Amino acid sequence: MISNFTCIRCGKKYEIGSIFNCECGGLLQVIHDNINFNKEFFDSGKFSSNYPYQSGVWRFKELIYPSLMVDNIITKSEGNTNIYNHKKINDYTDLIKISLKHEGENPTGSFKDRGMTVAISEAVRLNAKAVACASTGNTSASMAAYAAQAGLRAFVFIPEGEIAYGKLSQALAYGAKVIQIKGNFDDAMKLVQEASSKFGLYLVNSINPWRIEGQKTIIFELLQQRNWKVPDWIIVPAGNLGNTSAFGKALLELKKLNFISKLPHLASIQAENSSPFYNLYKNKEFKPIINPKTIASAIKIGSPVSWEKAINVIKETNGVVEKVSDDHIMDAKAEVDQCGIGCEPASAASVAGAQILRQKGIIDKKDDIVCILTGNILKDPDNTINYHMGLLKNIKPRLQNIPIIIDPKAIDIQHELKKIITLKG
Ligand code: F0G
Repeated sequence: MISNFTCIRCGKKYEIGSIFNCECGGLLQVIHDNINFNKEFFDSGKFSSNYPYQSGVWRFKELIYPSLMVDNIITKSEGNTNIYNHKKINDYTDLIKISLKHEGENPTGSFKDRGMTVAISEAVRLNAKAVACASTGNTSASMAAYAAQAGLRAFVFIPEGEIAYGKLSQALAYGAKVIQIKGNFDDAMKLVQEASSKFGLYLVNSINPWRIEGQKTIIFELLQQRNWKVPDWIIVPAGNLGNTSAFGKALLELKKLNFISKLPHLASIQAENSSPFYNLYKNKEFKPIINPKTIASAIKIGSPVSWEKAINVIKETNGVVEKVSDDHIMDAKAEVDQCGIGCEPASAASVAGAQILRQKGIIDKKDDIVCILTGNILKDPDNTINYHMGLLKNIKPRLQNIPIIIDPKAIDIQHELKKIITLKG
């Protein structure tokens, strides 16, 4: 076996399969034996037009799932996402060199597709009949799409009334069975774990180590796009902590393989009232938050499953965990949106985080920074519209853009239009 599951706590090894926790309670991670590739292999581009290697995930197959048969792969050519620079973002964050990698450009509109293509392909290899997840929205949208493509039944456990409409509509449209829990994401997460082991559903939350393998490719692709030049900081929104864990694993593996010679610092950014990981970082003790709150519903999580992997990553990269307010998240989102880049609220936590870390002097003005945008602007239209209409409680819409209503039958319509069009702003 080229790959095995290894416990991050006690080091016990397991054959790859449908277990995700060690008997000691620790999380499992995938370890690939005897992998010896150099960056020239991936840079040669010899695979780029051949199925499935045109995918920004499967291009790196040797580093994520070397033994998987190509026939098992369910892909939508995920990844290949753009990196943006914009003067407004430099000004906003007071940073000379900041770029945004937009994972909302994935096929179902979030980074989840990178992990999902691997987890669903593994479900196919295992002959699973059904897959399941708990979700704040994006995981469910992604799982529903990939499961439908693979012909698998899909069960989504979501907190009732708590997920953005764009995401709920995707899960319903792709045909997943949606089970709404009268509770929060953490309740849904507990329930789906119980249901999966009881009814033999294949769980595809980021507790599943294959999700992490797929999400490593955000880092692989980012660094390849930068000719393997390592930034000083990578900043990522943090909820269930799958991405933070995946980023750290990817970076350590690349360093071990000599693709890179130094590690960037990783900064995980949480929403202020949903910040158990921030509290762990500050107080050295993990305590779930019982009633998390934030407008960024994607990261409204009180008990992140991957906290133990993620805190190791922060230590190993000499990174930081920061928290930002809802007002700050929506302000940063409006900046990103008005650059024509656009993102959903949770994504903008990374940009708000960059601004705060700069203000605190943790990041230097000249540092080379990459923020990850995790979800598409269309995922949460309600919060975008309510921001511009000034309808969000405790949010100051500094960049408000209110629609103007005019009467098309007005006699002096030309005059009315002229007034609007010559107005500044
Ligand atoms: N940004 C977006 C847009 C997300 O959907 C999520 C997580 C995160 C950030 C946080 O990433 O969990 O890896 O720390 N969404 C999950 C879901 C929980 O169910 O869709 P993380």
